[in-house]
Amino acid sequence: MTTTTKTDFNDLLSTRAKIGRQPVGTIANSTPTAQPPLYAFGGGNPDPASFPLKGLAEATNQMLEKEGAASLLYGDPLGYSALRDLIVHKYELFEGLKVDRDNIIIANGSGAALGLAFSAFVDVGDYIISESPTFSGTLGAIRRHGPIVLDAPVDQEGIDTDVVRQHLEDLRRQGKKCKLIYTIVNFQNPSGPTQSLRRRKELVKLAQDYDTLILEDDAYGELRFDGEQHPSLYALDDSGSVIRAGTLSKILGAGVRLGWLCAPKDMIPVFQSFNFGGGVNPFMSRIAVYFMRDNLKSHVELLINVYREKRDAMLKGLWEVLEGTDVEISKPEGGFFIWIKLPTGTDTKKLFQLTSEARVQIVPGSSFYPNGGGERHIRLAYSYESPEKCYEGAKLVGQAIRGAMS
Ligand SMILES: Cc1ncc(COP(=O)(O)O)c(C=O)c1O
Repeated sequence: MTTTTKTDFNDLLSTRAKIGRQPVGTIANSTPTAQPPLYAFGGGNPDPASFPLKGLAEATNQMLEKEGAASLLYGDPLGYSALRDLIVHKYELFEGLKVDRDNIIIANGSGAALGLAFSAFVDVGDYIISESPTFSGTLGAIRRHGPIVLDAPVDQEGIDTDVVRQHLEDLRRQGKKCKLIYTIVNFQNPSGPTQSLRRRKELVKLAQDYDTLILEDDAYGELRFDGEQHPSLYALDDSGSVIRAGTLSKILGAGVRLGWLCAPKDMIPVFQSFNFGGGVNPFMSRIAVYFMRDNLKSHVELLINVYREKRDAMLKGLWEVLEGTDVEISKPEGGFFIWIKLPTGTDTKKLFQLTSEARVQIVPGSSFYPNGGGERHIRLAYSYESPEKCYEGAKLVGQAIRGAMS
């Protein structure tokens, strides 16, 4: 069997394939561990213990009985219509937001949905604005499209809109355009804050004033443990300036690979033209609908309690060991991640060596910065491990940090 090609295919690669190439099989650039990790705090995997396996098995049987062979045919290129309706229902149920089925296109997870938006709007050499830090997975997709990424820092209120305004003004002065502003509005991945209402309004106004688009990523919005929910940027906009991405990965299972874009209706065919056709996961879409239509609210309520407990267990473990240092540890109001600014004098190389020996997987902060930075940060995901392991593993991380302090 041929495992390598003889042709030097590198000469033949497209511009997009050449830029921003990532090593094969990386998950959010987690640190390697000496042996398989005992504490998987790397990628944002959902909690396996709460997967509704029985409910999904029943939903699959019901679906097959009712829909039979139709479920294994090619599907609607925009996605299974009942799933698009379920998403419309979900927005209404959780946010009181009214959208139409025609605003929704299904994709292979929200990662692929974001990719559709980048493909539709971003060429090599274009300008976009992104939060810095931001989700490393999206950074991979952004890099593949080759834009120049202008950083906007994130503080307790989310993206710094003064910096966004400055970038937009600078570009305008140079006769250039910003194609889009990418932002994660709730429990920002990795750094945790929820964008304040004030900033949301400012950002939407900026997009309108400077004729650009916002790509609003909301992978975790339903999983709020504390604090106040704000209207989405999509809800605040009345000018068709916002494209919003969502996913079932965090509230049903990442393996279902079902996400979507919610966007102005006339944009939907543009996104669709980047999908091959045949529909995205029509079989799984049906199962998801059969399960979620009766269980959406109760399942999300269950998950909120699951993830709150894990967040608190991880925070407890970290603070037990790191109290008294100048460490900064985020306390997100929801979502999957804790962001840590390491104490002064922490040797990160030593830290990664110690966490590797302790078999704790973490993600170096530098993975999340479009243009460099983050060397004093790490991200921990509490989503996957049990509360007990979140607590124990967090103490190990705390001890490793202490061990790496000079
Ligand atoms: C902020 C954010 N956006 C998008 C995604 C992509 O998720 P999926 O492709 O599974 O929907 C993730 C996954 O971790 C995420 O954290």
